[in-house]
Amino acid sequence: MSSIHIDPLEKKWIWAVGTIVVLTWIVQLYYAIADSIHPPSNVEVIDSAKLHMTEEFAEKNLGVKKEEDGSYTVTMVAARYGFYPPMIEVPVDTKVKLRIASFDVLHGLHVPGSNMATMVVPGYVSEVTTAFTKTGDFPMICNEFCGLGHDYMYAKVRVLAKQ
Ligand code: CUA
Repeated sequence: MSSIHIDPLEKKWIWAVGTIVVLTWIVQLYYAIADSIHPPSNVEVIDSAKLHMTEEFAEKNLGVKKEEDGSYTVTMVAARYGFYPPMIEVPVDTKVKLRIASFDVLHGLHVPGSNMATMVVPGYVSEVTTAFTKTGDFPMICNEFCGLGHDYMYAKVRVLAKQ
């Protein structure tokens, strides 16, 4: 029985690639744990063409709601080319659960400086929970190319001091 011959140079590259893969895993694991960065795990389907006919995503029910436990729920719709409502106000250091659905195509959502980032895939409800740690106005930007108006698709998050 003869063992497979591997060229020494090839062997070096196998190790190099293997090392890069393992380092990448370590970096991802580090940020997943240290900064709580991870893909949203919520899987919930919805008919994107009929958002306005649902209770939760009807226009009059969008926006910020305070829950009984003191946390907040934000319900939004992403549609070319904006987030609705275009501005939300939430208190600092408070649990905020964002639920958002797309009315048309694939959008993304990112609030720089926070872990609020998710894809908004038509047909699904995206859910992200966070707590903003700084007061002030922050942009909520679309980070998935969704058409000619993509660059202009944003909303504002106003984080207020606790009362
Ligand atoms: Cu919506 Cu890009």
